[in-house]
Amino acid sequence: MQNSLLILTGHSKGLGRAILDAYLQKDEFEIIGISRTKLGLNTPNLTEISMDFSEIGVMEDAFTRLFPLGDFKQIILINNAGWIGEVKSVGNLQVKDLSSQISINLLAPMCLTNAFVAAFRNTKARKTICNISSGAASKPVEGWGGYCSTKAGLEMFTKVAAKESKDPKLRYFSVAPGVVDTQMQDEIRQADSQDFPQIERFKNYKKNGNLSSPESVAAKIVYLLENQDRFQDVIQDVRNFDLP
Ligand SMILES: NC(=O)c1ccc[n+]([C@@H]2O[C@H](COP(=O)([O-])OP(=O)(O)OC[C@H]3O[C@@H](n4cnc5c(N)ncnc54)[C@H](OP(=O)(O)O)[C@@H]3O)[C@@H](O)[C@H]2O)c1
Repeated sequence: MQNSLLILTGHSKGLGRAILDAYLQKDEFEIIGISRTKLGLNTPNLTEISMDFSEIGVMEDAFTRLFPLGDFKQIILINNAGWIGEVKSVGNLQVKDLSSQISINLLAPMCLTNAFVAAFRNTKARKTICNISSGAASKPVEGWGGYCSTKAGLEMFTKVAAKESKDPKLRYFSVAPGVVDTQMQDEIRQADSQDFPQIERFKNYKKNGNLSSPESVAAKIVYLLENQDRFQDVIQDVRNFDLP
């Protein structure tokens, strides 16, 4: 009996894929996964939607009809899709890439959050919106102007939405996942050292086995979402707690 709903962006790889795999173990969940790539898994409780968040025109009408109505006990939105973008210093950025990055990292989760609140305003379900943040939301990193700014913007949007909310059955979280061994880290290690002075530090994370596995981070995110009473603040970082 599927009486819970998960909407997960960026489900096709990295952290999102690990979150997907964790929720696929939970029979009560109907899952909607949204990425550009469809995995084509043979799992009846997963519906995959192919969407490119860098194209805002596609999103505007798609978002309004994204959420299924049903008698759910709980509904979770995890805005996980993200892009590190061009690793370049200010003055060398390309407007087109910057615009795509803002759409993927900031506009899409803002629009999805907005559409989620509108769609489920009158449901009695317990609702959670979990926006995947980054340490870069509060720390300036050379070469990551677009990334830091979009993550900072999303964190602030999450705090504003939480402050506005009068719905006792709706919780918001902005969760930093730590440094995770995914394709995003591959892209970071391929940056030019001129544009990204911290490149050796990031190469060493990989070399010295200091990256978290997507599975271990997904397990912490699931724990947080299942034990919300233990996490009072909107802003969370998986590095600040251990699994029991
Ligand atoms: N890895 C880290 O160390 C780290 C650290 C801090 C925060 N984070 C955050 O964690 C989240 C997951 O990152 P990750 O490391 O797992 O990255 P990843 O391995 O690069 O995966 C990114 C996911 O986002 C989706 N995505 C990218 N561009 C998209 C687009 N234009 N439209 C729709 N979906 C798109 C990708 O799917 P498709 O390619 O199929 O579209 C993929 O499923 C991101 O929000 C990231 O900022 C990661």
